[in-house]
Amino acid sequence: MTAGRREPHPANTLNELTGEEWLYFTKSVWTTAYPSELGHALRKGHGANKPPRLMARLIKFFSRTGELVLDPFAGVGGTLLGAAIARGPRRALGVELDPRWVAIYERVVRELADERDGAGPVLADLGTADPGGARSFDPSGCELRQGDALVLLPALADESVDFVATDPPYNVQLPLTMAGGPLAETHANRRTDYAMVSSDPADLANSADYGEFLDRMATVLGQVRRVLRPGGYACLIVRDAYQDGRYFFTGADLAGRASAVGLVPKGDLIWYQAGTRLRPYGYPKSFVPNIAHQHILVLRNQG
Ligand SMILES: C[S@@+](CC[C@H](N)C(=O)[O-])C[C@H]1O[C@@H](n2cnc3c(N)ncnc32)[C@H](O)[C@@H]1O
Repeated sequence: MTAGRREPHPANTLNELTGEEWLYFTKSVWTTAYPSELGHALRKGHGANKPPRLMARLIKFFSRTGELVLDPFAGVGGTLLGAAIARGPRRALGVELDPRWVAIYERVVRELADERDGAGPVLADLGTADPGGARSFDPSGCELRQGDALVLLPALADESVDFVATDPPYNVQLPLTMAGGPLAETHANRRTDYAMVSSDPADLANSADYGEFLDRMATVLGQVRRVLRPGGYACLIVRDAYQDGRYFFTGADLAGRASAVGLVPKGDLIWYQAGTRLRPYGYPKSFVPNIAHQHILVLRNQG
């Protein structure tokens, strides 16, 4: 506990936060820009990698030291790294289909652990953007398993997980229309770090259509509900989509599917991604949004 820090409320069994920290968390729009750190140069090969500090912020609200966090779509391990830098560290289990991302996570952890002759990385002090004092790095309780979430989750015990934090594939994968190609040489807004495409049919992004994507997500959400302890929370990071000339309210659609399997929607935190590149999708004829926010759906297993 940091010197001078107040004690958590004695009735608080959810987390280890003070009253002020609790209130700060509950604001529904998040605008903090997180630095590139913790192996970002390698992790950015995955176009949807999440900042470990963003994940740590969720983890510290919805769990306590030593508890188990699950990420069924772990990518290059933003959630696991978030658990490793949480004050104090949580255990974390990730599942990721694509062996490329698992290999990057493992390399990042190895290299970070070797920094400063084995003392590990030093994280920058972000002041009010990341209140709570210094962070350390302890990935010893974190494991990333390669495989299909729809196969591996059913093997986990009922009510064995304290918190689920994940960002699933956002939608059915479409070819990129506004990024890459020759224009990327000269125009920054045509460049992309987006590389999530796999040819594996088990990849939810390769679902035949949006309906099948939602159905498969509903199956995953049913498993999430089963493995979560009663009263435990799940946070789903979801980006809405604009495809085939219309807007898809993916966040709202997934909240509906979650609700149908008994995960009660409790909130929608909006994470503003300030660095989003603006692309001239509809210009000069029609409105097409540059989506610069993601939904963090807060769901609860009411038990
Ligand atoms: C939006 S990304 C997650 C990124 C992650 N939060 C990070 O920090 O790197 C979604 C991930 O889900 C994976 N995925 C897709 N279908 C899957 C499945 N059936 N089982 C497990 N992982 C899957 C994709 O390979 C992709 O890496």
